[in-house]
Amino acid sequence: MNEVQSYIESKKEDFLKELLELLKIPSISADPAYKDDVAKAAEFISTQLTSCGAEKVEVFPTAGHPIVYGEKIVDPALPTVLVYGHYDVQPPDPLDLWESGPFEPVIKNTKLHPTGAIFARGACDDKGQLYMHMKAFEAMNSAGYLPCNMKFMLEGEEEVGSVNLETFCREHKDKLSCDVVLLSDTSIIANDVPSITTGLRGLSYLEVEVVGPNKDLHSGVYGGAVANPVNVLCSMIASLKDENNKISIPGFYDDVVELSKAERDQMNEAPFDLGNYKEALDIEEIMGEEGYTTLERTSIRPTLDVNGMWGGYIGEGAKTVLPSKANAKISMRLVPNQDPEKITKLFTEHFEKIAPPGVKVSVTPHHGGMPAVTPIDTPEYAAAQKAMEATFGKNPIPQRSGGSIPIVSMFEDVFGVKSVLLGFGLDSDDIHSPNEHFGLFNFYKGIETIPYFYKYYSELK
Ligand code: BES
Ligand code: MN
Ligand code: MN
Repeated sequence: MNEVQSYIESKKEDFLKELLELLKIPSISADPAYKDDVAKAAEFISTQLTSCGAEKVEVFPTAGHPIVYGEKIVDPALPTVLVYGHYDVQPPDPLDLWESGPFEPVIKNTKLHPTGAIFARGACDDKGQLYMHMKAFEAMNSAGYLPCNMKFMLEGEEEVGSVNLETFCREHKDKLSCDVVLLSDTSIIANDVPSITTGLRGLSYLEVEVVGPNKDLHSGVYGGAVANPVNVLCSMIASLKDENNKISIPGFYDDVVELSKAERDQMNEAPFDLGNYKEALDIEEIMGEEGYTTLERTSIRPTLDVNGMWGGYIGEGAKTVLPSKANAKISMRLVPNQDPEKITKLFTEHFEKIAPPGVKVSVTPHHGGMPAVTPIDTPEYAAAQKAMEATFGKNPIPQRSGGSIPIVSMFEDVFGVKSVLLGFGLDSDDIHSPNEHFGLFNFYKGIETIPYFYKYYSELK
């Protein structure tokens, strides 16, 4: 292990330079115009995997973007860890809010990253974090320290719902067989407060359309007499939550697992500073479901949010018009044991029911995903805990996250194994937002910590 760590120490600059090259590739999975760039990022990763020491490296085409695979099988008697990551990124829009180009990485200091952070789309989510795994592997391989068999499966469609990953996993079930999945696509509480993610929320995402008159109308000639779809959509959405911010869709909470008082007390012991939270967001007050703390609202409770809404005239100046249509994109974050398909159905039925006469509504579901919880009484959790303890000098706190990684529950279905969510980002790293960044401290700490995971996992398994 000393050799592993000194290899890392000696290669820090090279590791960073290579990551910056990867970050220059605009691998935006959602936009077909960037299909070749996504493929280019896959090629970059596969070349790198090979030079890190992986064998049988292959870029598998799918109906969408490719999946990169590579492995190092040392001894069939050793435990096998499957590393998952995604090299695709979210669209960088709105571009004018970036202080530097989203695909022109720069290093700048911030309040939370006084020793520097890499600013680029994908720096934290998830190129920087998957790169930690490749470099940890390179260090272990070159030091000849490989206590586990390692497999890498890196996909290019996570940000668009991992549509082809399940088929790939089922088709290559033997090739991918493993004892545990390891991924870094989540956050720690703070750079001096390590934590391990023990849960993720599920997701139901849909689009609604409200149609009124068969064309846009003069808002003076017709206004007041014909249902305005934008007004109607606003009232319909407003009615989806009551005065306590509880979601009013009948049956919505039926399957929600309520935590015991002891569990809730324990999760609320995690450090959280409401003053800092509000200050960082420039808000006077927080808002959420009555009876729950901010930590609970963003982890163990489901949500309903409008992600975007449009209709009518949105150009320069004023145009007096009564629009014919209004649309919104709505997401619901789900918790155990809510089922995305059931929730989508409940939403659709309710939304159609509350529509006033005079408009027609339609609901189109997008991708969804199952929530996941990972147990803490397993060898893999203990290995992650000891690994973080070794490099942070502190016992990490188990914490459930509000984000979604739907494939975690899929891995459990297909491979029958649990995942370890060993992320190193910060919630404030602006993933999916302008000026996404990833701390240099976090990048290197991840590379240093990961080899310890393999060490302790092989000892404990
Ligand atoms: N890495 C994120 C999920 C995440 C972020 C988990 C922060 C925990 C903390 C992932 O890439 C992501 O963005 N997931 C999407 C869902 C997906 C189906 C598009 C999400 O959570 O919105
Ligand atoms: Mn991610
Ligand atoms: Mn993401």
